Amino acid sequence: MENFENKTAYVTGAASGIGFAISEALVKQGANVMMADIDGGLLTESANTLRNYKGRIETHVCDVIKAKDVQAGFAATQAAFGNIHLLFNNAGVGLAGKPGQIAIEDWRWIVDINLMGIVHGVEAFVPHMRSHGEGGHIVNTASMAGHFTMPGMAPYHATKFAAVGYSEALAQELASQNIGVSVLCPTWVKSNIYNTGKQAPTLIANANSKTPSKESPSANETTNQMYQLTKGLVENGMEASTFADLVLKSIQAKRLYIFNDREARDAINVRRDMILKDYDACLKDLGL
Ligand SMILES: NC(=O)c1ccc[n+]([C@@H]2O[C@H](COP(=O)([O-])OP(=O)(O)OC[C@H]3O[C@@H](n4cnc5c(N)ncnc54)[C@H](O)[C@@H]3O)[C@@H](O)[C@H]2O)c1
Repeated sequence: MENFENKTAYVTGAASGIGFAISEALVKQGANVMMADIDGGLLTESANTLRNYKGRIETHVCDVIKAKDVQAGFAATQAAFGNIHLLFNNAGVGLAGKPGQIAIEDWRWIVDINLMGIVHGVEAFVPHMRSHGEGGHIVNTASMAGHFTMPGMAPYHATKFAAVGYSEALAQELASQNIGVSVLCPTWVKSNIYNTGKQAPTLIANANSKTPSKESPSANETTNQMYQLTKGLVENGMEASTFADLVLKSIQAKRLYIFNDREARDAINVRRDMILKDYDACLKDLGL
């Protein structure tokens, strides 16, 4: 995609952080943007700050957990703007916790948003992007946490590794159909992401309940520790607008992976070396 003028985009998680900054960068460059988010109040407020740019803004309240919401988002975008060229599957949440302390309901919640939310976007928009013949680009938000792991964040890592792998597969599937794919793999960007871990279903139920918590004290402790850690890192992270400008440039450059951190680069080599060490040891045991 050479430029964004008069192109149409659907952006999930658009009320805040990275999704908001991408919406702003797009509308500044003359794209029409359907901003989608589960938080209708914040969505209206955020969208209203973007109405004086070249492109047009519409909003769609949507829970990406629900395939039918995302399908309705597709229909609303097409009705408002016609052909759709860009899909940003960006909505995502965090969840901390140690194995054996994470409620299965909370695991399902993060998988349903961070992975299935992307799948719902792809399934709803790809047939249309393929059929209109004007080309398209899909951008899935993973994280640097989709390339390396650290303790206390297994659910987040699992969903972000899945988002990276799914994006790599999609890039191969769609290349011949004039649909590009990119996957966002940032480390810390200024946003409200550190608050989302407290919205997991059992944590909300416990916060609203007068009866004793199902959570163990150590589960609470891990959540609080990760909250403090990520809050500090995100608040000192990259400006979301800087990252959003890189995202648009990277779409134009047809990059699959979009990174933003000099220091995290080594993590990729460390993981690669770890995998190859065991790979070679297995081959040796097999005499191959
Ligand atoms: N900020 C960072 O440091 C960072 C780093 C790596 C990856 N990410 C990823 O970036 C993406 C955007 O997060 P952010 O950092 O801008 O955080 P954010 O919390 O500021 O924005 C996320 C937005 O997604 C919305 N959302 C949450 N659940 C939703 C749902 N079920 N349906 C629709 N919308 C929903 C929220 O209301 C919010 O407006 C996420 O996928 C996150 O994992 C963020």
